[in-house]
Amino acid sequence: MSYSANTRIFHVNPDAPEPDFIQEAVDALRMGGLVAFPTETVYGLGANAFDSEAINHIFSAKGRPASDPIIVHLYDLAQLETVALEVPELAYRLANQFWPGPLTLVLRRSKRIPSNVSAGMDTVAVRMPNHPIPLALLREADMPVGAPSANRFARPSATTAQHVLEDLNGHVDVILDGGATIIGLESTILNLAKDPPTVLRPGGITLESLQTIIPDVEMISKYLKADDTGIEAPGMLSKHYSPQAEVLLFTGSPERVIPAMQIRVRELIKQERKVGLLTPDDEYAFFEPFSAQIFRLGSNLSEISHNLFTGMRELDQARVDVILVHGFGSNGLGAALWDRLLRAAEGRVIPC
Ligand code: TXA
Ligand code: MG
Repeated sequence: MSYSANTRIFHVNPDAPEPDFIQEAVDALRMGGLVAFPTETVYGLGANAFDSEAINHIFSAKGRPASDPIIVHLYDLAQLETVALEVPELAYRLANQFWPGPLTLVLRRSKRIPSNVSAGMDTVAVRMPNHPIPLALLREADMPVGAPSANRFARPSATTAQHVLEDLNGHVDVILDGGATIIGLESTILNLAKDPPTVLRPGGITLESLQTIIPDVEMISKYLKADDTGIEAPGMLSKHYSPQAEVLLFTGSPERVIPAMQIRVRELIKQERKVGLLTPDDEYAFFEPFSAQIFRLGSNLSEISHNLFTGMRELDQARVDVILVHGFGSNGLGAALWDRLLRAAEGRVIPC
């Protein structure tokens, strides 16, 4: 059975959150309820991380399998010792450099954190969000808050309160609407429970900036071939961060990719399939002549990241059958974009 709630929405000033609205959300958390809030990455669906029953409500509200662990959010470094054990010195160096910010650290779990937060594992993922709303909420509640992205399981993450409402209306007690999130892609997850540390998910903090502190940091193997031919075996990635439409992910040099995409668009239209495109602004003209739904992603990696999930949701709403998109390299945010696109395409890539 799914968690049900009478959803209340508060429009909160993201620069100076109104104390009354924060208090409403704190009360909901204290009663074991669920609160959705913006972060600098995506919206989170939060519950008291010390309350295993409240955490269970997150899983049922999202329709998320219990095998998928949840990130714990903090507002103060002093809380780290209450959620994690044997915190290495490296964790503090990284936190000093990147927190608050889009870096999640996987550490050994303190027994105070119930095991369902971490899907039964003896580790816990923690981060400090760089956004005044969750920082005020966490400070007033004075508890660690477990929060996955505030979308139904396997759907694109929510980057606006409207997205949260689309997916979770009636399954969350309070939505703090602080406008669109900034980065638009989730945090980078770094496993410090292993040596050398490994990036489990590329995100808002790039591999290049982690290398300034950990020169031998590694990406887990499935990303090594990023923007080449995808992963070893097609179909190995479960559908995640996904629109309902089929996603065709092209990769290769622009001189080859754009003509290949144009040819495919023409074929699909001939087959009477409704075609959607996610395209950077400077490529719009190549596709404009076709009768396709085109969503413009913007003109640089930051804008493209900010807009990606909104684009997937809008094309779904336009009820397209298929979405064509290409990779954006593997430097900087390109790696995180590639990861989300690869999952949306269920691991299948069209090399050009
Ligand atoms: O930016 C973000 O990280 C957002 C905002 C809300 O903070 N949160 C987010 O959570 O993206 P979610 O649940 O959508 O993704 C969390 C992922 C899990 O799917 C899992 O891959 C990883 O974090 N994770 C959580 N705990 C872990 C652990 N103990 N060990 C390894 N990976 C873990
Ligand atoms: Mg998620």
